[in-house]
Amino acid sequence: MTEAQPKLRAALDGIPVYKPGRPAVSAGGAPAYKLSSNENPYPPLPGVLETALETARSLNRYPDLACSALTAELAKRFDVPESHIATGTGSVGIAQQLVQATAGPGDEVVYAWRSFEAYPIVTQIAGATSVRVPLTDGEVHDLDAMADAVTDRTRLIFVCNPNNPTGTAVRRADLLRFLDRVPSDVLVVLDEAYREFIRGAEVPDGIELYRERPNVCVLRTFSKAYGLAGLRVGFAVGHESVAAALRKTAVPFGVSQLAQDAAVASLRSEDALLERVEALVAERTRVRDALLAQGWTVAPTEANFVWLRLGDRTGDFAAACERAGVVVRPFPDEGVRVTIGEREANDIFVRVAGEFLKG
Ligand SMILES: Cc1ncc(COP(=O)(O)O)c(C=O)c1O
Repeated sequence: MTEAQPKLRAALDGIPVYKPGRPAVSAGGAPAYKLSSNENPYPPLPGVLETALETARSLNRYPDLACSALTAELAKRFDVPESHIATGTGSVGIAQQLVQATAGPGDEVVYAWRSFEAYPIVTQIAGATSVRVPLTDGEVHDLDAMADAVTDRTRLIFVCNPNNPTGTAVRRADLLRFLDRVPSDVLVVLDEAYREFIRGAEVPDGIELYRERPNVCVLRTFSKAYGLAGLRVGFAVGHESVAAALRKTAVPFGVSQLAQDAAVASLRSEDALLERVEALVAERTRVRDALLAQGWTVAPTEANFVWLRLGDRTGDFAAACERAGVVVRPFPDEGVRVTIGEREANDIFVRVAGEFLKG
């Protein structure tokens, strides 16, 4: 007997499934490393685990709906009003809320491609239309083309800086010129999930740009540099109406008390954070230099990963890495994104890359 199925919105048809980085699987007892999700290889910062364990005693209670302590801490740190901060279940949760708040059927969301794979998903869930603007040959956002792509149907533009999966970043002068071209009633979301890893002096701090521009909203996360990916907490800094819209579209009690308290403790562990980020940045330079010396073309990266455009050799390369004990993130027929991880893991990746070129 065939039973009628519940009617679902047609907008959901064909939504790509979000592909998480594959977990590391060890073959025959050899260590395996996960370099597929841009995670931080370090455990939580000092004091964070203790705080989380203490909070865990109250798991029978709902969290603080307003995330008050975290909001206050962030407002102080970035010198912004508390009313300009909205927290959420990771920055991907906030990205989804922003699209929900601005776009629906008939509206357009502009973003570079390839970029963070959640953008097409959250756009389609809202029933809005994706407008993808190809990266330049240098794997950077083509901001002129993105500004050209704006129509009277455009409601939101994502600028992923630095870009996932290429690691490339847009420069201050280019971003300012772009922002000047975008109509002031179109929301520009500067997704800065990897902000802490940026070392280029020309890469702008989105929070400085937001101050003078009511249509700019900045996304940050505790998942990457702060190493709290498993707890799901991120935040947006945006002007009053945008932050208020985020509070309206939030799932009530979405950010757990564990996440809130761990995030505050992490913010207070700044010295240890900076040390770890510095070590990862040094590893990034070491890995990229080694790849360049081997003859690879590697886009300059400001994030905790590198990108190799391998085209139709992508699958073979990912398989070779896996056989050697590191799981990377293939984008079929395009390239692989490899997270900077433990030194041993990075060494394996560099070795495989060298052998692959000779192979
Ligand atoms: C560019 C970018 N934005 C946002 C996210 C989401 O991070 P989270 O939801 O863990 O804060 C990621 C994660 O990979 C990302 O690469």
